[in-house]
Amino acid sequence: MDIRVDIELRARDAGEAVRRGDLIIVIDALRSGTSIVHALSSCAEAVIPVLSLREAYKFRAQHPEYLLAGERGGRRPAGFDLGNSPLEFSSGVVGGRTLVMTTTSGTAALVRSRKAKWVLVGAFLNAEAVAEKAEEIASREGIDISFVLAGEKGKFSLEDALCAGAIADELTATKVRLSDKAYVALLAYKQAGSDLAGNVMEAEHATHLVGLGLRGDVVFSCKLNTSISVPFYKDGRITLLK
Ligand code: MLT
Repeated sequence: MDIRVDIELRARDAGEAVRRGDLIIVIDALRSGTSIVHALSSCAEAVIPVLSLREAYKFRAQHPEYLLAGERGGRRPAGFDLGNSPLEFSSGVVGGRTLVMTTTSGTAALVRSRKAKWVLVGAFLNAEAVAEKAEEIASREGIDISFVLAGEKGKFSLEDALCAGAIADELTATKVRLSDKAYVALLAYKQAGSDLAGNVMEAEHATHLVGLGLRGDVVFSCKLNTSISVPFYKDGRITLLK
């Protein structure tokens, strides 16, 4: 059976992918998706995405052992242990810990996708690994694949589309059929891939992060296939897919 691969370009349309019964790959390349992949690669036990600061503080009150991570306006919120810089998520800091994370767009895209049976987190870091797992699950279950792009504050973002293209480029099944939107993402990635960091640097959100002194986060987030971790979001928690 063919596997159709589609894209929801804005997180608010995640419900369309849920309604289709697709396996969803949520992408927020800058930066929460990359941070989640890196946190689990660094042996964090789980990441719990939440929408609001209030929810995060409530978790902290009930579970003082949890670490709070995330951002508002790119900065670490008051009382949080970590911001949203993937570079902060080292094994010495997050190893064995459960993180409660809230970010402007990425964690919201995850929460909007939560009713799908299969929700994976994709980034440049794990493009090959997430493509392989998604294809394996979709073939086994006879379902299709959708990317849900977190974007930035509800808007389309270049880096997430390029990341969808990078993952699409790793899909190997001869029976994969890309929608026109998914094919555009693949073509864009093929054009941009030879200087990924340079091209992502042109994106609006990257420019914002560079302005905050976070250029290193952008460079790190553009590293391709450095991780075999595939984060799986189920029952409110993101853990490594076994
Ligand atoms: C988001 O979820 O909006 C992003 O991860 C923002 C950021 O770069 O911190």
